Amino acid sequence: MIILREVYYKYEPEGIDALRGVSLQIKEGEHLAIIGPNGCGKTTLIRHLNALLMPAGGRVMTGGFDTKDPGHQADIRSLVGMVFQNPDHQIVGMTVEEDVAFGPENLRLPTAEIKSRVAEALARTGISELAGRNTETLSGGEKRLVAIAGVLAMRPRYIALDEPTAFLDPAAARLVLDIIDKLNSEGVGIIHITHNMTEASLTQRIVVMNEGRVYLEGTPREIFGQAEKLKEIGMQLPQITELLIHLKKAGFPVRTDIVGIEETLEQIQMLTGINKD
Ligand SMILES: Nc1ncnc2c1ncn2[C@@H]1O[C@H](COP(=O)(O)OP(=O)(O)OP(=O)(O)O)[C@@H](O)[C@H]1O
Ligand SMILES: [Mg+2]
Repeated sequence: MIILREVYYKYEPEGIDALRGVSLQIKEGEHLAIIGPNGCGKTTLIRHLNALLMPAGGRVMTGGFDTKDPGHQADIRSLVGMVFQNPDHQIVGMTVEEDVAFGPENLRLPTAEIKSRVAEALARTGISELAGRNTETLSGGEKRLVAIAGVLAMRPRYIALDEPTAFLDPAAARLVLDIIDKLNSEGVGIIHITHNMTEASLTQRIVVMNEGRVYLEGTPREIFGQAEKLKEIGMQLPQITELLIHLKKAGFPVRTDIVGIEETLEQIQMLTGINKD
């Protein structure tokens, strides 16, 4: 479990209050989305999960360790892997294999163990065939997968990803999302920052941040059922939810707290009386 209690963070010397009392619990194995307007503190928040940043006030407990405890920094870093927004800042190796080996090498593991971890991480992210590739020749989607493999090689219990599909074409984004889902189904907790509301609607729980605080928290259905509150802070809705709201405004008796395609189909079947079977 990761527990944040009243976490405050200020960027100095500018004196920008990025987090203003964030309390949150993240359970092992869950798939959590973090959404919110630009500059609301999403990136600052996830950097607290593995002690890249320390709270100026309040406390972050990751897997039972206080992130401020200097004796447990290494434990905390290996519990929560971080995939940064720009994979170019994360990829350091000449080849994919070397890059993914970087983390386990820092742990000073035996060579055979490093090799087996690298092979396993590449297989789990579906990029074994990229092992020998020069990292400078990778596409944006491949770079994201290499970055994910790099953190997987540390065998984390959670992976926090900062906008993992930003700047990817739809096919590459789909590939990255499928790998994230697969890892989650294997038990890895996922903390996923996104500006894509459809992506957020496919997770188990959503935290909406605004101005350094948790603004709303709930299941995708609970969150996207509060269209007015989201619009107040300039947030979009998933396209499906938007469509149902338009139908409702036009006088059709549909529910608008819907996020999935299956549920939308049911509403449309109910309206038309046409059953897909
Ligand atoms: N390194 C930094 N130095 C100074 N201020 C910063 C720094 N990083 C972020 N900030 C400021 O802290 C606040 C929160 O930023 P943060 O990057 O956490 O937001 P975000 O929700 O991730 O935004 P975005 O959606 O644009 O990525 C913003 O006002 C931002 O300008
Ligand atoms: Mg950010």
